[in-house]
Amino acid sequence: MIGDVKISDIPNDIERELVSREQIEACIARVAAQVSRDYAGRDPLVVGVLKGAVNTLVALTDAMTINAQVDFISLSSYGAGTQSSGHVVIRQDLSADVSGRDVLVVEDIIDSGITLHWLTGELKRRGAASVEVFALFDKPARHKVELNPKYKGIEIPDEFVVGFGLDYAEKYRNLESVAILRPSVYDKEERA
Ligand code: IMP
Ligand code: MG
Repeated sequence: MIGDVKISDIPNDIERELVSREQIEACIARVAAQVSRDYAGRDPLVVGVLKGAVNTLVALTDAMTINAQVDFISLSSYGAGTQSSGHVVIRQDLSADVSGRDVLVVEDIIDSGITLHWLTGELKRRGAASVEVFALFDKPARHKVELNPKYKGIEIPDEFVVGFGLDYAEKYRNLESVAILRPSVYDKEERA
């Protein structure tokens, strides 16, 4: 299934698990049931934000009981270091025309909220009939802009996490659950 690397496969890299695979699956199952009810008869377009949302989007659409079309967008938010500047750039655009569509945006995590704030605004500017958001994880302590996703995920503390789509330097996306890295992993990356 999705993300088959286990924490026990990479014990030198992982400090501890923060969210188990069971908790992730329970959250996605709950949201899939809600989405299936809310969008019944409406042919929604489910938009995944590359690359982190891929695992969540696949699990969500698999668990839905209605038809959904799927599309992807790749965004980058430029700023100094790891801080988002609020200036979002499209790296790779959607292939679908969203005008008149009921769009459900799927994202891996809300940090500052800047990426999703910009994307939901952009989809509305393009004429989407409705725009809702499901983010699997949320770090409320980090928000810089107001966002109120209709489909709420799992709240986590202000920690950098990897797994189930989330990466550090493009690694750990295929970890089955969500974990905190050992500080030595960052030290290694900085020396490299
Ligand atoms: P925002 O625009 O600040 O909300 O940034 C959200 C994006 O930052 C997410 O889509 C992730 O790509 C990335 N991000 C934020 N926090 C984490 C984390 O803890 N681990 C991995 N990526 C993260
Ligand atoms: Mg992302």
